[in-house]
Amino acid sequence: MSNDEVYASGLLNRALDPGTQPEAIRAFMQAEIDLLDDIVTETTAWLDVGCGTGRHLALLRARVRLGVGVDYEQAYVIAAHRNAGGSPLHFITADATRLPLSPDFDLATCMTNTWGTMNDKHGVLAEMRRCARRRVVSVFSERSSAARREWYRRFGHPVIEESAEWLMTEGGLRSEHFTEARLRALIGDCTIYPCTDIGYIVRF
Ligand SMILES: C[S@@+](CC[C@H](N)C(=O)[O-])C[C@H]1O[C@@H](n2cnc3c(N)ncnc32)[C@H](O)[C@@H]1O
Repeated sequence: MSNDEVYASGLLNRALDPGTQPEAIRAFMQAEIDLLDDIVTETTAWLDVGCGTGRHLALLRARVRLGVGVDYEQAYVIAAHRNAGGSPLHFITADATRLPLSPDFDLATCMTNTWGTMNDKHGVLAEMRRCARRRVVSVFSERSSAARREWYRRFGHPVIEESAEWLMTEGGLRSEHFTEARLRALIGDCTIYPCTDIGYIVRF
């Protein structure tokens, strides 16, 4: 199975159930939310790439001027629309490497290691650069493997193979993680901040 098929099978809903999340994963996700809370303001037009069921946009919907979430898995987009759709939030089904959007956003985000599960990483960065003046990617670090192994096992995806750059589960999820050096090699000019003990926030 590919990541596309894994997402189509509804993995995200199980992964977002707090009951499956070890403490380190919950702390990482809360730190991401704290960061978004700091950088999103009433004037922000915000594009969230790989938005899933739209939880980040939904959390800050009272704050943004405009929020657009994009995901290629239509079932997630329908759920996002049902939960939080309507002005100022909009959700569309599209591939992150071919966004049907104009370059009018203040901020583009790609949260919770979504970028680490995407096939064409450079294509996604190029679209984020084209569409928004400020860009943020949040990823898992080289120190995240133990917490992720436990999380993936709890939502039914035990890890069966791993390398210095990725974990692969029995169900076919391939999730990458990153060192600062690898992030700089892939993204180029960027600023990297630790996000708890197991992740990085990258601004580029
Ligand atoms: C790890 S989930 C995170 C979802 C959401 N950002 C969150 O934190 O709740 C990754 C999401 O990216 C989507 N995705 C993966 N590759 C994509 C692509 N090339 N284009 C659009 N969406 C993609 C998946 O369908 C999935 O919803």
